[in-house]
This record gives sequence, structure tokens and C-alpha cells, in this order.
Amino acid sequence: MFKPKYVKRIIISSRRIKKGIKCAAKWINKNYATKTPILIGILKGVMPFFGNLLPQLKINVVTDFIVISSFKGQVKRQSKPTIITNVKTNITDKDIIIVDDVLDSARTMKVLISYLQKKKPKSIKIVVLVDKPNERKVTLKPDFAAFSIDNVFIVGFGLDIKEKARNLPYIAEFDQDYLNRI
Ligand code: IMP
Ligand code: MG
Repeated sequence: MFKPKYVKRIIISSRRIKKGIKCAAKWINKNYATKTPILIGILKGVMPFFGNLLPQLKINVVTDFIVISSFKGQVKRQSKPTIITNVKTNITDKDIIIVDDVLDSARTMKVLISYLQKKKPKSIKIVVLVDKPNERKVTLKPDFAAFSIDNVFIVGFGLDIKEKARNLPYIAEFDQDYLNRI
């Protein structure tokens, strides 16, 4: 298995991730059985989650993406969340599911929600792979989270450190000792 030096410990194995994504798909299939939601993925971190989730959906869906940046690949936040690339779909009166890799401080999600709400969608729900509830800086709960973890900086399965580590098939704790060597 590919296990770079900066991997301190594996927190969620690829087998567990697979199961978690299956649960997320089930939740969407059940809650949107009679609807055609617009799934908005937050790039780039959501890539593997979104790609594995999509083929398991047994309902009509529309897909779109937003690029929103706040972390800039560093361990600590560097700037205010900024929407870099917008949605292309008309979301007015539509059911929206925002799909993201991790909900951390939730500042990014808050900015995104208030932005999308201006376009008057029918509903907005949040589906994330990993929730870090103890890191919250604003009040916000995901409607579905496959995993809930403590306050550690994680990498892998889409999550990056300085744009690296997204390709790891598992989610791992990043070893801070390697911050300047990566
Ligand atoms: P938030 O605004 O603090 O909720 O986080 C915004 C974004 O930062 C998330 O969507 C992730 O892309 C990124 N992020 C948050 N926590 C981590 C982490 O532990 N590792 C890598 N990226 C993270
Ligand atoms: Mg993200």
C-alpha cells in the first residue's frame, strides 16, 4: 500500500470509505426518491467522493460544481472563502444537495449557502464524507455525514496538503513534522 512518510496514522480505511459512500447514496436515494436534485460538488476535494457516489444513485440527478477556495492547501486557514467558479445550472426552485469532502469550521459552507440562497432554490441540504463537529466556528450541521472525527488535519481521498495527498485511497492524519518538507 502507498503510505508516504507524512501519514501519521490511517483514520478511515478505503474499505470503510466505500461503506460510508454506500450509506450516503442510500440516504440520497431514500430522501429524493420522487425528486430530481441538483448535486453541487465542491472542487477539488470532493472529486473521489463525488465520483464514487454518483454511480450508486438510482434517481434522476443533475450535477454541477463550484470551486471555492479558503484553505489554499495549508493546514491553517489563509483567507476568506472565495467562490472561484460558479454553478452553471439554474437552481431557482430546485432541490440542491451540496456535496463536500469535509465540514470543518463550516465557514466555507456558510458563505456558499448564503450565496446559493440568493438564487431562491426550493431546498438546500448538505452531504459530506467527513464531519469535524468540534472544529465548528459557525453553527451548521450536515444533513448527512458518513464519518465524524476529532480535530485532526486529515489528508487523502481528495483531501490535500499543499495540493498533495489527494490520491491516497484512505483518509489519514497528516504528520505536522512534515509540513515544511512536503
Ligand atoms: P471549513 O470552511 O473550515 O469548513 O473548511 C473548508 C474546506 O477546507 C473543506 O471543504 C476542505 O476542502 C478544507 N479542509 C478542512 N479541513 C481539512 C482537513 O483536515 N484536511 C484537508 N482539507 C481540509
Ligand atoms: Mg472542500
